[in-house]
Amino acid sequence: MPARTPTVIQLLGLAVTLAAVVAYSLFTLVQLDGLKRLGSDIVDRNRRDSLQLIRIQNDLSQIGLAMRDITEGAVPYPMESFKPEFDRIKGDLEDALAVEARLMPSGQTTAQRSMLQGAFTRFWNETAQLWALAGEGKTNDAKTLIRTRLEAERATMTTVISRLLMQNNEAEAAAVQEIQLIYGKVERNLYLFFAAVLAAIMITGGLVIRHDRRMFARVSHLSEQRKELAGKVITVQEDVFRTLARELHDEFGQVLTALGMMLLRVEKKMPDPSAERDDLREVREIANQTLERVRGMSQMLHPPVLDDYGLEKSIEWYLRQFQKQTGVHVHYEKAGVGPWIGEKVAIHVYRILQEGLNNVVRHAKTPDAWVRVRYEQARMEMEIEDHGPGLPAERRTGGIGMIGMRERAELLGGHIEFERPVDGGTRVKLSVPLPAGEKA
Ligand SMILES: Nc1ncnc2c1ncn2[C@@H]1O[C@H](COP(=O)(O)OP(=O)(O)O)[C@@H](O)[C@H]1O
Ligand SMILES: [Mg+2]
Repeated sequence: MPARTPTVIQLLGLAVTLAAVVAYSLFTLVQLDGLKRLGSDIVDRNRRDSLQLIRIQNDLSQIGLAMRDITEGAVPYPMESFKPEFDRIKGDLEDALAVEARLMPSGQTTAQRSMLQGAFTRFWNETAQLWALAGEGKTNDAKTLIRTRLEAERATMTTVISRLLMQNNEAEAAAVQEIQLIYGKVERNLYLFFAAVLAAIMITGGLVIRHDRRMFARVSHLSEQRKELAGKVITVQEDVFRTLARELHDEFGQVLTALGMMLLRVEKKMPDPSAERDDLREVREIANQTLERVRGMSQMLHPPVLDDYGLEKSIEWYLRQFQKQTGVHVHYEKAGVGPWIGEKVAIHVYRILQEGLNNVVRHAKTPDAWVRVRYEQARMEMEIEDHGPGLPAERRTGGIGMIGMRERAELLGGHIEFERPVDGGTRVKLSVPLPAGEKA
């Protein structure tokens, strides 16, 4: 299996997602800008312009009414009395035209503007003529001027204004349509964006999950293999130790015992006192010391009490030995009655106890230690406790004693915990299942 890390997949997924976000954001910004332009530049301006156009239209129709009153002679006033009204309307028209010219919506052409301006200028020039004729009392000439020229100019202005109004309406309708189009496009792209991001997330997530599952499977397989290997190593080690212990005890032990006895026999045959006899005694003492050392080594490698007396007795025997050798006072508490625990299980519990107590001597350096053993129906529990400085917060590499303890606990199908009791120190808690009715 290629050692591909999920980081590459995750980065790729992230890149795709980010690219989608950036692309969509840019697109939306551009569209929003378009909307803003359409909204304020076209629609708003058109509406304000149309208001002015309507104002002009209104003024023009007021002029129309006044001109009709004059020509039809329906009002009993002299013609000049209309002048102030005309002047007021002129002022309003000039103002409206000025505002309108400033707005100048997009659809308007300069031709239309100059046409309007021309008609306006001509109309007021001719109106001046009108008041002159009226002043001279040429009422009929004045009326004719209204009907022919003034009415024509007013009609021109009205037509241009109507056209401009229509243009504005059309431009607004087009803008509204374009706005709808933009909304539609943004909406469509929003769905696309969601789909792309969702797909990227799903694909990335799927790939990462698949990768993780493969990785977990691999790790658990390796862990299984490692456990098996560690178990085998420990078992083989114990087998070798047991064989060596037996060899040492049986072979070397017997030879040394025989040697000692023969030396004693020869020694007794020598004249007493004599230098030869002293030499022989010395040699015999060396042989005896070697025998003791061989026995000690044999016991260390594999205590024979385990095979002969089982775990319970072996623990007691070991604790006595340990106290004698180290001077540490072990407070031993036992609860329950242990079944016969055969050597196959016992050796590992025994080794854990050994390592735990050795750690008390080496690391806790306390004068006291506590060992509690509890036997239950199908389980035994053992605690090794000291009131020393406790385990360091950071696990140092190098020591394999605790690793070995854990391996042995796992080999027995049990578990081990290394605790820090509230009042300080270290507590090793072992719990192992006991094989039912084992009799070694
Ligand atoms: N009873 C204890 N009290 C304090 N520290 C301990 C005790 N037992 C173990 N340690 C710490 O844990 C480390 C690992 O222990 P271990 O695996 O047995 O390795 P080793 O004994 O060879 O150092 C030790 O170096 C020591 O720092
Ligand atoms: Mg140790």
